Amino acid sequence: MKIVFLFILAYLLGSLQSGVWLGKIFFNKDIRQFGSGNTGTTNTFRVLGKKPGIAVLFLDILKGTVATSLPIWFGVSINPLWFGVAAILGHTFPIFGHFKGGKAVATSAGMLLAYSPTFFIYSASLFVIFLFLTSMVSLSSMLSAIIITISTIILPLIAPFILAKQDSLLIILAICISTFIIFRHRENIIRIKAGTESLIPFGLYYKK
Ligand code: G3P
Repeated sequence: MKIVFLFILAYLLGSLQSGVWLGKIFFNKDIRQFGSGNTGTTNTFRVLGKKPGIAVLFLDILKGTVATSLPIWFGVSINPLWFGVAAILGHTFPIFGHFKGGKAVATSAGMLLAYSPTFFIYSASLFVIFLFLTSMVSLSSMLSAIIITISTIILPLIAPFILAKQDSLLIILAICISTFIIFRHRENIIRIKAGTESLIPFGLYYKK
């Protein structure tokens, strides 16, 4: 019973639409009507600006971290990663937003933070490097997801101080979640191919 309650709680946490609510409450704007129409961090930056964007990034990561930590805090002996998955599902299919949510990136990062802070820092660094090289959040998200997935297999062999051991559940979930992230970015992929994907004012590509 406790397990079911915690799974629902993790899903509900993931369903919290910080970007949408922040926009509606403080700016009288529904971010789903502007920019890419996405409910996540990038579109919050785009539509509402820097400070709301940072707040949503923090809150969306926090959702994944708190949800993944629930079984540890409540003494449930199920792998915490499953609760991270519940939060990711809540974020992408939110009950509070007609099941139309974000692209799973920040909440997945939050899950990684709860799983291993060192692996989270490694993953966030990868993302920043890709962002510097491409100036596109969408492309950086997808490239990071792919490299992070490969890293779950290789890092324990070459850099165990970043990720200590090969965890079969982490590897399987990384494959599934990265595939899902790429699927959620299908409209971005069309724009990237057409050369119309929006750039952020950071990195090499933006300056060209
Ligand atoms: O996390 C979502 C990001 O990768 C892309 O967002 O708004 O540019 O589609 P957006």
